[in-house]
This record gives sequence, structure tokens and C-alpha cells, in this order.
Amino acid sequence: MCRKFTLKFTTNVVGSLDIWAFQEVFRIEVRSPEILTMIYNQGKYLRQPLKIGSKSIDKRLILAPLTFLGNIAFRELVSQYGGYGLLYSEMCSAKTVPHENRFVSPCFRWRDEERSRLVCQIFGDDPSRMAEAARRIESEGLFGVDINFGCSTTTICRRNCGAALLKHPDLAAAIVAKVRKAVSIPLTVKFRTGWQDDAGIAVDLAGRFEDAGADALIFHPRVAPDRRSRRPKWAYIGMVKQAVNIPVFGNGDVFDPDDCRRMILETKCDGVAIGRMAVARPWIFAELTGNLQSDPQMFADAATQLARLLEIHYDPVAAIKRFKRFAYYFSANFRFGHSLYTKILKAGNMKDVNPILKRFFEQDPEVAARPNLNYFS
Ligand SMILES: Cc1cc2nc3c(=O)[nH]c(=O)nc-3n(C[C@H](O)[C@H](O)[C@H](O)COP(=O)(O)O)c2cc1C
Repeated sequence: MCRKFTLKFTTNVVGSLDIWAFQEVFRIEVRSPEILTMIYNQGKYLRQPLKIGSKSIDKRLILAPLTFLGNIAFRELVSQYGGYGLLYSEMCSAKTVPHENRFVSPCFRWRDEERSRLVCQIFGDDPSRMAEAARRIESEGLFGVDINFGCSTTTICRRNCGAALLKHPDLAAAIVAKVRKAVSIPLTVKFRTGWQDDAGIAVDLAGRFEDAGADALIFHPRVAPDRRSRRPKWAYIGMVKQAVNIPVFGNGDVFDPDDCRRMILETKCDGVAIGRMAVARPWIFAELTGNLQSDPQMFADAATQLARLLEIHYDPVAAIKRFKRFAYYFSANFRFGHSLYTKILKAGNMKDVNPILKRFFEQDPEVAARPNLNYFS
């Protein structure tokens, strides 16, 4: 006989529950959209701690790995707003990591203050080399190591790295197992659906990574040849989450608070990894965890600050290259953002940047509620 119970919770009780654990313990499913939405709206879900292997994070939003963009200067900017549980580095080659000098390396570098929340992502196809790189990362005191099985650029896939390894699940699992044996820090795996639009493949891969010792997964539900043109299939995140017992971070096309809420409620993922939107609005994590309201002045301040931080951390040529890449996504915030982007693109050096930003923001540019997707590929 099926009995229907109505449980009444006060707002405080509901807000402090780990609702997914609650459901498992009591073997019930909380279907009430009101309760789920209430938990989410209080921002409490995103501020609930989450265990990842031997460590915990205090917020369930993470900065996804972004080559060239998720650099040390950008992460310093994001850290000023807070609201995230982890920051992921740009992807680093496992061949070079063991010998890199962190003070001159373009991507294997960090500020001491961010070590406890920084995960270094590595790519490679040789299990022993990957293990050696992971050992270096552990010895540097970073939070954890992530394995890249998601990058589908030709340069990476031609070397049988990144998403190319999803075609070789035995080798991919062997890499995870070897890295697991080498280090005790949290080990995460970031991967995509695979090379065919088949959720079963992703679910199978997720199980293999868990069995090989991964502590958490970041899953981007797009097939590998599809860079970001089609919508990601969030339903697959739900399937992956159901198939494993380790935390799963959903990823792909979270552009505003409503997207984040829907991804969590629809897929029951344990957390969300945000990439491009963090570049467009580096305060997105603080906004989503409820500590900050964005205002128009923040756009000008963030761009000016990033220009300053890039000059501190990089030589002038590297700094302007990185600022131009940032400007591509940042310009998507504005209705007429292309005028900002084309001017930044023509800038000869960092000295040109501040006057361009000043002139643009003096005109009170209209901010779009969601980014202009033409700039968001
Ligand atoms: C410019 C750029 C660089 C990226 N670099 C990496 C990378 O180094 N490693 C990785 O696993 N994913 C990388 N990605 C993929 C992102 O981590 C993320 O999966 C993707 O952007 C979807 O998330 P989003 O919709 O929140 O941006 C990159 C994406 C972009 C746009």
C-alpha cells in the first residue's frame, strides 16, 4: 500500500538539510518543487560542504579549467569576490609538470594563498608520466589533481590526449588508477559524453573512473567533436550522477542563477563547474552563493583590475595576449560589446587597455541579462 506523507519543515530545517543524503537515508524522494526550490533559493545548497576524497570543500561551485583564461591573474581576480569551493588551473602537460619552475611557467603557477583551493589539471596519455606529474602537484601542497579527458581540440587529440582517450576506456582507466596509486590528494576527472551521443557510454566511463579511484567527476555532456555549438544534454548529468557514488559536478551552459538552479534540481548533481560565465562575470560564484548583488560598476572594476593583475604576473606580451582572450568573453556582457572587443583586439600593448576601458564605460554600456551567445563559442 502506498501512503502519502506530508512532512512539514520550517525554513531553517529545510535549508540545513543535505536533501540528497536525506532522501537516501529515508528512502523517499522529495518531489515537492517548492521544497527543492526553497533549499536552493536560500543559497544554502551551494554553501553546503562536500567531501571530495580525503578533503572537503565549503561551497559547491567550482571554476572549470580554462586554457589561457583560468590563469593565475584571473584566479586572483575571482578570489577577491569568493563564493567558490575550488579553482581549477589551466591544463598543464604531464610531460612538463615534474620539471616546471612555478615562478616562470606560463600555466603551472599559483599564489601561495590559493593552494588550498587549487586543483591542477593535467593532460597526457602515459600513465607513469601522469602519476609523476600528480606527485609533483601533491608535493606542492595543492588541493588536488584533475585529469583532462575532455579537451577535444585537434592539437590535444592528435597526441592521443584529452577527449581522444575516451575512445580508449582501458587506457583512460589505467591512467586514473596509476595516478590514484601515486597520490593521496583528491583526484578528479573531467570528461565529456564521448565521441557518440550515447549516455550509456558516459555512464560506463563514469563507473570505470570511480572504480579506478577517482574521488569526483566533472561531467560536460557534449560529444567530443562538438565544441560548444549545440546545447549540452543535462539529462546525461543526471544519469552519470545516478550511476556512481562519488560527487558529480555538472558542467555546460550555466549562464545565470536560473540555469544553475535548474541544473541542480533537474540532475541532482552535487555541484556545478562554471567556465565561460566566470570569465564574463568573475563574481558569478559570489552572486550564486548569495553574498553579492552585481551592479554596473563591477564590470568596469573587474576589467581594470584584471589588466593590473596580468601586468603584475606576466611580461607585457603575455599579459596583452591574455587580456585579449578575456575580452572576447567579457564583451559578451554588453549589448554592443563587439565595439569593446574590436578595440581591445587592436590594442598594441597593456598601456592602451585602460583608456579603451575608460571610454567604453563612460558611455554607460547596456548590460545584457544573458551574454551575447555570438561571443560565447
Ligand atoms: C577557452 C576555453 C578553454 C578551455 N580549456 C579547457 C581546459 O584546459 N581543460 C578542460 O578540461 N576544459 C577546458 N574547457 C572546457 C570548459 O572547462 C567547460 O567544460 C566548457 O567551457 C563548458 O562549460 P561552460 O558552459 O560553463 O563554459 C575550455 C573551454 C573554453 C571556452
